[in-house]
Amino acid sequence: MPPAPKPVPKDYVPAFFPKRQGGARAAGGPEEPRTSIVVVGHVDHGKSTLIGRLLADTGSLPEGKLEAAEKASREEGMPLEYAFLLDAFLEEQAQNITIDTTRIGFRYKGQSFEIIDAPGHREFIKNMVTGAAAAEEAILLIDAHEGLKEQTRRHGLLLSLLGVSRVIVAVNKMDLVQWKEGRFRVLEKEIREYLGGLKISPREVIPISAREGSTVMRRDDQHLPWWKGPTLLEALLAGAGKSQQSPEGPLRFSIQDVYRFDARRVIAGKLESGRIRVGDPVIFFPDRKASRIKSIESWGEETPLREVGPGQSVAVTLEEQIFVERGHVGALPEDPPVESREVRARIFWLDTEALRLQAPVTLRLGTQSVEARLVAIDRVVDAEKLEAVTDTREEVGRFEVAEVRLRCRRPLVYDAHERVSATGRFALQRGPRIGGGGIITFAEYPASLAKPVTGEHLTWTEGRVSQEARASHFGHEGAVIWLTGLSGSGKSTLAVALESLLFRRGIGTMILDGDNLRHGLCADLGFSLTDRAENIRRAGEVAKLMAESGLVVISSLISPLKKERESVRASCRSAGISFSEIFINASIAECEKRDPRGLYQKARKGEIKGFTGIDSPYEIPEQPDLILETGKEKVVESAERLLSHVLNLVRLKEEDREGAPGPGGQI
Ligand code: ADX
Repeated sequence: MPPAPKPVPKDYVPAFFPKRQGGARAAGGPEEPRTSIVVVGHVDHGKSTLIGRLLADTGSLPEGKLEAAEKASREEGMPLEYAFLLDAFLEEQAQNITIDTTRIGFRYKGQSFEIIDAPGHREFIKNMVTGAAAAEEAILLIDAHEGLKEQTRRHGLLLSLLGVSRVIVAVNKMDLVQWKEGRFRVLEKEIREYLGGLKISPREVIPISAREGSTVMRRDDQHLPWWKGPTLLEALLAGAGKSQQSPEGPLRFSIQDVYRFDARRVIAGKLESGRIRVGDPVIFFPDRKASRIKSIESWGEETPLREVGPGQSVAVTLEEQIFVERGHVGALPEDPPVESREVRARIFWLDTEALRLQAPVTLRLGTQSVEARLVAIDRVVDAEKLEAVTDTREEVGRFEVAEVRLRCRRPLVYDAHERVSATGRFALQRGPRIGGGGIITFAEYPASLAKPVTGEHLTWTEGRVSQEARASHFGHEGAVIWLTGLSGSGKSTLAVALESLLFRRGIGTMILDGDNLRHGLCADLGFSLTDRAENIRRAGEVAKLMAESGLVVISSLISPLKKERESVRASCRSAGISFSEIFINASIAECEKRDPRGLYQKARKGEIKGFTGIDSPYEIPEQPDLILETGKEKVVESAERLLSHVLNLVRLKEEDREGAPGPGGQI
């Protein structure tokens, strides 16, 4: 039974609802659109001075602050130190700061901006990845005198990781290099090249002197007559209000809570992207439960809201009562998110203690919080050179960036970061600490769900035994291990070896062999591409059902075309079943040499028509989860690699603690 939603007192107005200002509020509108900016740069590159200067020039300092500071400096016979202005400003705010991020607001030519400042990397990344302070724009500060530092590079990398693609580079302290254009152009070229490697193309690279106030708000024709580009504030203004993603991005409605008001269930959450309209058909993930938006709660407004846009907190009621809860995500059927237990991501690790393979972490994405494990480190990237350092790593160390795969205990609902940034980034938590963060680099989207998932007049009966319950009963998870490769490549041999290795370890397992299935379930099918597609569809459905029952299914079919393999993967994914594609790689020449059943010989003679690899295609998997080179390695080697891959996939965490064999461990 789903837990009953919380009853809420009648006069309660939830905190997520936009606050009324002076008794009136624009229908559904946010309080005021602000562009969030993050200023990053090496500690000595003048960050505080720049922020102080922006506040002073735009007249955003509290009354009297600037005058008092000017007076004090005059008395000391010193030039005004803008960094101190910022300090004074922050001191005043200090009591109000509840999170470890400072927000400093200023206005320029009718636009509001907000600088998000964080004391350190860790806080910065934590706020960025959890969305507490998602910056839309970044100012990357470089010191004209010192040039690019390791930290500048790391900051650039961080911005690309966190998906801040709108970047303005400010080359500061131009006064220290005698305002020379030559020096500026060298640095401009260098930083553009570096950022280009990260796929960031800065909107502007601007020479400034924050101390002298040159090109921040005012132009400085005396010192920088050669600069014809915009001032920093002009550049900010030009980008203001243009959010990184189109406001009409796909609907992603993250549920924060479900309340009961009288007889109504009110679903409160955040519009991470897209808009919601009354009457929209919305599907909630995971589990794909469909309903329609009945109303958008307006609490006492005269005209009920019909529509709400991205970035807002909203509360809705639904036409059909379906069970949804915190962590679920609503989307429109034609543009669904990914629902999967596998996550491929680029992560940035901050904790002093490295993140080891198989280590448990909590993955937090929007309102979802899921237990996960690091199952593969594909490569570790050097922040300085932006190159892979090594491809055989067992852990990701502090300040390292790595391309990894994580496996979640429950399906996670997500997007590729480049498609929807809010649902494409996450934080990794270890105990109470945020250890790092990342963005999702790869997502295989399901086909549109515009057509009903089930046919007309059909329903779906939900069992009461969850996959988690089955897994804990059997001591491992179910999964589909899909071996693909040419006839004679070694699929059956490896399937048989794997089956017995798993069974000996107490893992419930079963082979689905192409040849065997063709004796019964698929006896009506031949070898045309259409028949093969149907053959694979049936095998895939059976494999999924068996894996749902808790078994580790080893499928051994040629499955020559990518399209069909991908649809089995998608079908498993939507059922929350792990699917691993294993490419059994042996060249056609090698397979023909082996020819255990003389089939190649017959095919060459024309006695078998449409034989895979001879006169029927085989599409090599582009991104298999594992490749076994049966032409090069011994059967026992391939089998061992396959076994450790599968154990990583299906083992439960409890087993880890009991010291079950890990990757590369004893088998
Ligand atoms: S699939 O293409 O539909 O995935 P499947 O794995 O079920 O093929 O069956 C392949 C097996 O059928 C081969 O191992 C071989 O024994 C036999 N076979 C008979 N005719 C063909 C053919 N034309 N092409 C490939 N395999 C064939």
